[in-house]
Amino acid sequence: MLAIDAGRLSRRLSELARFGALPGGGVTRHCWHPPYEEARKWLIGEARAAGLTTWVDGAGNVFAGTGVDRFSAERPIVLTGSHIDTVPEGGTLDGALGVMAGLEALHTIAASKTATKRPLAVAAWSDEEGRYGSLFGSRAFIGKLAGLKMEDFAAVDGEKLVDVMRKAGFDPARVHEAAAPQGSVAGYIELHIEQGPRLEENRIDIGVVQAIVGVRRSRIIFHGQADHAGTTPMERRRDAFLGGAEYALRAREHVVSKGSTVSVTNIGVVYVHPGASNIVPGRTEMMHEMRDPDPAVLERLWNECRDIADAVAKERQLRVEVRPMSATLPAQCAPKIQAMTEDVCKTLGLSSQRMYSAAGHDAQNLAAFTDSGMIFIPSSGGKSHRIDETSDPVAIERGANVLLHTLLSLANA
Ligand code: GLV
Ligand code: MN
Ligand code: MN
Repeated sequence: MLAIDAGRLSRRLSELARFGALPGGGVTRHCWHPPYEEARKWLIGEARAAGLTTWVDGAGNVFAGTGVDRFSAERPIVLTGSHIDTVPEGGTLDGALGVMAGLEALHTIAASKTATKRPLAVAAWSDEEGRYGSLFGSRAFIGKLAGLKMEDFAAVDGEKLVDVMRKAGFDPARVHEAAAPQGSVAGYIELHIEQGPRLEENRIDIGVVQAIVGVRRSRIIFHGQADHAGTTPMERRRDAFLGGAEYALRAREHVVSKGSTVSVTNIGVVYVHPGASNIVPGRTEMMHEMRDPDPAVLERLWNECRDIADAVAKERQLRVEVRPMSATLPAQCAPKIQAMTEDVCKTLGLSSQRMYSAAGHDAQNLAAFTDSGMIFIPSSGGKSHRIDETSDPVAIERGANVLLHTLLSLANA
């Protein structure tokens, strides 16, 4: 039976981990930044050396295929992929695994001259982690950036998408050209680490994803009054940071007590202006994120948190702005792909479990475009979005072989 080369996959994962490597372990590799652009060049070189054709679209998505060099409805492609950008101080597998395992699967198919009814390709989607805009590359690919102005996309620290794209040699005006023709993808399957503890704790080899979470992000800005931190009497201060702090606690309590059993929330970015220990904060900006698989629950929680922000502002004599930043829709994975992956697991003698993904993935955008599915492998200790994210090498090899054979099933269906 055809099998991937685990040594080659491991070598490529280690080489990719060098781009943006941090002295204390882990990686920071933001899309369009120099380490990312070096990784992109390296990836294209590896894919060509593996006998694959390569192309890059207007949104910076990299593709490597078996005898194809574009998307067309006349010759639909079976697609796999993930992303090679990381969160700040992230691990070496979140995203990288799906791209390297996809490349390995296609390399194995090409080198063994295995014939398939449909061509295959692997994608490295741009900015999956959403530094400049949530699931950016796959959103462009499915045509969901139409009508949006690239000038409006920016990171929380103010860095603009159009500036970093131009520095990396891309033309932001061409992002819309990345939209693929309807019917040009015959199916999509993505391998990823679970990023949580369930598979490891239940001693299950493979997770078969049924549904992927929806994510809403808003920027909450409290405006108060900057004042001298020594001389202004305490009762006269209009401290914007205290508004933000109180909102954070109350919104968290609300989501936990009034959300569904799987609702989660996080405030991962806080800026205090002007940012000096001897000035009462005049403005506080925060990024507030909420997740749930049910869009109606997310909509309700978002409205209720807005009311909490208004109430906090009123009580503390502040002004508040709530700016919606992104709303990624929850998605269902295709039953056909889940069944194919389960059949492959049976053939390979691996245990599997259907599960829900509480992390966002490009597969959820692809689900609006074609049959889409995901394969999870256990994450050691359930750790992810941290520098010590790892998975057992045996789990990696199993996941890549499940990917290989699910791709073959899709390409020959
Ligand atoms: C993707 O990494 C996410 O934030 O879920
Ligand atoms: Mn991630
Ligand atoms: Mn990821």
